Amino acid sequence: MDIGTVAVVGGTGRQGSGLARRFARAGADVIVGSRDPARAAAAIASWSAPTSSVRAASYAGAIGSAPIIVLAVPFDSVADLLARHASFQAGAVVVDVAVPVVFGEGGPALAPLREGSSAEHVKARVPAHVRVAGAFKTVPAHLLDQIDRPLDCDEFVCGDSSEAREAAQALVRLVQGLRPVDVGPLARARSIEHLTLLAIAINRRHRIHDARYRIAGLS
Ligand SMILES: NC(=O)c1ccc[n+]([C@@H]2O[C@H](COP(=O)([O-])OP(=O)(O)OC[C@H]3O[C@@H](n4cnc5c(N)ncnc54)[C@H](OP(=O)(O)O)[C@@H]3O)[C@@H](O)[C@H]2O)c1
Repeated sequence: MDIGTVAVVGGTGRQGSGLARRFARAGADVIVGSRDPARAAAAIASWSAPTSSVRAASYAGAIGSAPIIVLAVPFDSVADLLARHASFQAGAVVVDVAVPVVFGEGGPALAPLREGSSAEHVKARVPAHVRVAGAFKTVPAHLLDQIDRPLDCDEFVCGDSSEAREAAQALVRLVQGLRPVDVGPLARARSIEHLTLLAIAINRRHRIHDARYRIAGLS
């Protein structure tokens, strides 16, 4: 699948900036969406990787200008953002990357969600014609940020349709060394979110920072 333009809403942030730079490096036209387009423009100007195919936009501008939108904002801000911005292109695909982690006395946990997962939370808030996938939930931001470093792990992709899963897998393939693993319907997003929580626990227990996943037996 040829990725033309991809918008990264929250592309100024930790997860979003690594993704935006890696997509651009792979040849995609990238729109970095920010609440403040000047902040997005400053972020782009600070990036050392080639940025000729990257431009800044508001959230509304980013959402309305791309057929694939990566939603890379904190989970708590997703509902308000989607309530304010609903002008998606016909048949757009939204890729949700959020992991609704809460840090309580017992350590990190997933916030209970009425819809089941962050990706289903998104699905419940976008127009009916918009398709939704979940991806980039288990790859750590600080590894994405090292854009000269090829990754060496798998990234789980789920979605509400084959089109959404294919679009998300095509995005994953843009990240050098990252292999997409299609895990099926959108409801599997909760399992992926649990794996992120497990990676956080592995990092803490083993005093490492880079826990990530590779599925054995899958060619
Ligand atoms: N960090 C990780 O390792 C990691 C790994 C897997 C998944 N994720 C997921 O990726 C998403 C982004 O995480 P992050 O660590 O990149 O977060 P972040 O750096 O704190 O925020 C990302 C961007 O979201 C925008 N933003 C912040 N607060 C907002 C608000 N209240 N309303 C609207 N926009 C807001 C900001 O962009 P502007 O100010 O430019 O608008 C910010 O640069 C989260 O859902 C997280 O669960 C993160």
